Amino acid sequence: MNSFIYDIPVKVYFGENQLSHLGEELLPLGKRVLLTYGGGSIKKTGLYDAVTAELNKAGLEVFELPGIEPNPRIDSVRKGARMCKEHHIDVLLAVGGGSTIDAAKFMAAGACVEHDPWEFLAKPETPIDKALPIVSILTLSATGSEMDCGGVISNPETLDKIGRMARPLLPRVSFLDPTLTYTVSRYQTACGSADMMSHILEEYFTMEHDLYMLDCMMEGLMKTIVKYTPAAMAEPKNYEARANLMWASSWAINGFICGGKRQAWSCHPIEHELSAIYDITHGHGLAIITPRWMEHCLDETTLFKYVQFGVNVFGIDSRLSPMEIARESIRRLSGFLFDTLELPSTFTALGIGREHFPAMARKACAGGVLPGFKPLRQADIEKIFEMCL
Ligand code: NZQ
Ligand code: ZN
Repeated sequence: MNSFIYDIPVKVYFGENQLSHLGEELLPLGKRVLLTYGGGSIKKTGLYDAVTAELNKAGLEVFELPGIEPNPRIDSVRKGARMCKEHHIDVLLAVGGGSTIDAAKFMAAGACVEHDPWEFLAKPETPIDKALPIVSILTLSATGSEMDCGGVISNPETLDKIGRMARPLLPRVSFLDPTLTYTVSRYQTACGSADMMSHILEEYFTMEHDLYMLDCMMEGLMKTIVKYTPAAMAEPKNYEARANLMWASSWAINGFICGGKRQAWSCHPIEHELSAIYDITHGHGLAIITPRWMEHCLDETTLFKYVQFGVNVFGIDSRLSPMEIARESIRRLSGFLFDTLELPSTFTALGIGREHFPAMARKACAGGVLPGFKPLRQADIEKIFEMCL
């Protein structure tokens, strides 16, 4: 196992009725709060009223930025950074899914510099040395943004969707109340689980052989997703299911399971090119791409990982031949994503044709090689896209 540093300093309040701690967590960070949220789900669910009641009780001065889009746009980030400067904001409070939390992260960093926040994304050498403190209240189990230092921002003018990680973007505190996800639609629940599954698969499918303990943890997380997503879809107010999914979403990407690995991701950079142009739901794009990517990467050298995955996660009979197990593991994952989670299984179903395949594939590998489980060139990525049609 390679050497690594493990340090995840996000304080998590997990469970029901934890919002009573909101004021005591915000006050030491400052009195002027920028409350940012998405397209209105928090108003429908009553969460907005609950949050503002807590903020008022704590005597905080609140400024609001609603309307953060799914696949958040750089213009929203710019607006938030401007508001932070104009109103001398001390702390950002992001209430929502990954899109709202991601946008808040780059507003928080943008508030500390004079340049356009898009430079953080377009020019990765631009330092992110500091950011205003961020507190998050998560309403959708999916991205893990509540416990990681990453964010992904779209720029519709350049058709780019770019991610970046930087330590100052870590939320200081995150509130994870599974009951806040009771209202998440079947579709978003399914997409969220597909996203989590992908975060784990991106780490799990590696050629490194000496990560037994982490492999077991990842298999446990994947089994949790397979077990509880159908339960949450069938019964949206199933606390046990929502709670297991929520905690799994954070642990799928909070840095723990990648300890010791030196592997780049494959499906995410490919998917980001897709949602940059078509503005689709990230988890759905991943659901379509992942089984095709697995199919493309399967050969005698990579076979062992498919066998381990199929037997330990889906309980496939280990007496079958390795290649049979590998093929069955792809079938079982596809069955989970497309039958159990009911996600349409092709680009065609999402209205996506092949017209942008060459450009998207070129961008995904930056004109060279996309490193990862199996290095992919433009032609490989185009082939994977073709399989998704
Ligand atoms: O905007 P509102 O009205 O709140 O509605 C949202 C939105 O329409 C709705 N929703 C959220 N919580 C709800 C709810 N509806 C009812 N009840 C609730 N409790 O769900 C819709 C999707 O929300 P969004 O925040 O876009 O979803 P998600 O959490 O999946 O975030 C996706 C974004 O995160 C990025 C993705 O690329 C995408 O832009 N990612 C961020 C990562 C990170 N920070 O590390 C990693 C991921 O791989 C991912 O790339
Ligand atoms: Zn993701």
